[in-house]
Amino acid sequence: MSNRPDLPAEIARRRTFAIISHPDAGKTTLTEKFLLYGGAIQMAGQVRAKGEARRTRSDFMQMEKDRGISVSASAMSFDFEKFRFNLVDTPGHSDFSEDTYRTLTAVDAAVMVIDGAKGVESQTQKLFEVCRLRDLPILTFCNKMDRESRDTFEIIDEIQENLAIDVTPASWPIGVGREFMGCYDILRDKLEIMDRADRNKVAASISINSLDDPKWSEHVPAHLLEKFREDIEMAMELLPKLDPASVLNGSMTPIWFGSAMNSFGVKELMDGIGTYGPEPQIQTAQPRNIAPEEDKVAGFVFKVQANMDPKHRDRVAFVRMASGHFTRGMKLTHVRSKKQMAVTNPVMFLAADRELAEEAWAGDIIGIPNHGQLRIGDTLTEGEAIRVSGIPSFAPELLQNCRAGDPMKAKHLEKALMQFAEEGAAKVFKPTFGSGFIVGVVGALQFEVLASRIELEYGLPVRFEGSQFTSARWVHGTKDAIDKFAAANKQHIALDNDGDTVFLTRLQWDIDRVQRDYPDVTLSATKEMM
Ligand code: G4P
Repeated sequence: MSNRPDLPAEIARRRTFAIISHPDAGKTTLTEKFLLYGGAIQMAGQVRAKGEARRTRSDFMQMEKDRGISVSASAMSFDFEKFRFNLVDTPGHSDFSEDTYRTLTAVDAAVMVIDGAKGVESQTQKLFEVCRLRDLPILTFCNKMDRESRDTFEIIDEIQENLAIDVTPASWPIGVGREFMGCYDILRDKLEIMDRADRNKVAASISINSLDDPKWSEHVPAHLLEKFREDIEMAMELLPKLDPASVLNGSMTPIWFGSAMNSFGVKELMDGIGTYGPEPQIQTAQPRNIAPEEDKVAGFVFKVQANMDPKHRDRVAFVRMASGHFTRGMKLTHVRSKKQMAVTNPVMFLAADRELAEEAWAGDIIGIPNHGQLRIGDTLTEGEAIRVSGIPSFAPELLQNCRAGDPMKAKHLEKALMQFAEEGAAKVFKPTFGSGFIVGVVGALQFEVLASRIELEYGLPVRFEGSQFTSARWVHGTKDAIDKFAAANKQHIALDNDGDTVFLTRLQWDIDRVQRDYPDVTLSATKEMM
């Protein structure tokens, strides 16, 4: 990856990223401060307030609140300095790893937030590994420095060791815990002092000429200054200097220290994302890759969210623009169906409000309301039959039978389940033998989420019950080979929501048997969504 000098200015100023973190590290608070500095909200506290208002609308959202998980992801855009940021929200709970994985296919970089007292936690590690698969550039924010935190070297060491990435300090904290007073901004040679009294502003930003500048002792108490000087000298000697190319290829992460709650260190981080973060990148696709500077518009669906407005049965497909300059009303080809669609009412998300998107450039995320035509993995172009690749669907790890509380409502249940399948919230399998549906998910909590959504959005009480099957594999081969295999293994065969054949398994032994007895079919645990 490298920043490419020939991008049109509108594309070059875009930074599309996600935040990865462990629950409670401060993602929501940081997002709120981004939006505050980005002018998208007027007052800190609004994201949460809006969240509360939304949550009171339904029991399902209540569950989201009770469990402290965020079920729905969205994208938000805002300007800062000369940059346009597109922040794609990742669902935080480990149960939603597939959704999260796909979200990360739509961004060019990730901001990793860690809690200064806790360091790299399990969920951060997992998400980091997903980013690593694509060599995504990572910028790190070490949060909650206003509280007791670990020693700075220890935090840096832990990241280097656990995540196998070089860490370069972009700022350095002065004092710890109650004595934490601010940071030295290494990249801009400034002393930034935190305001504990006013959480929405920084107390002072002082330009420094060197580490010997007399201004240091005017602002920093002697005992803190002594420790800081020792530390920074050692850091300069031992830690690597910031190398922009290594940041862009994902082998080095700059780290900023701060306190999201106190709005401290946030602007420096934003400036860092703009300055060192990647411009919109080339998108892998078949039969050719898509470059952002191409004149023609192309984009792909990485998320579908249904029933965002419970009054209307609408769905919004979130599209990452991969190239060109989109304007509202444009006719785009839906490559999978080869049909044209006029995109007349695309939306962009400024904080929690939707707005009509008059235009969008490569790197932007737009929401396209639709009635189910758009599915995850779909590509939209100005006519060319290109398909974005690399958006996987994973075999579910848990399977249960799903039945309507009222048997007369089976048809309604099918409709509801298909919708959630298209949204990517679950896999739905219709066994060829017997009746009913088998629903597959990656994390157990999703069954509860589904049951409450089906009841809430469709008025259908449902029951999930244990299934004899534990996993599913997609069957690949020639049509003849698949048909023959399916006919001989009827009790294990089902169709997924795209009509593709899957083999339901109980044991690894089942899979081994198929591979031994049917050499002309193969089983796979992932399917590319195309
Ligand atoms: P998340 O989205 O990553 O789960 O974290 P969130 O921002 O919700 O923050 C988790 C908790 O940590 C919140 O406290 C939040 O106020 C607190 N927090 C965030 N940033 C900082 C910081 O820089 N310093 C300190 N000391 N705390 C911070 P809470 O008690 O769960 O919620 P609330 O009552 O404050 O809203």
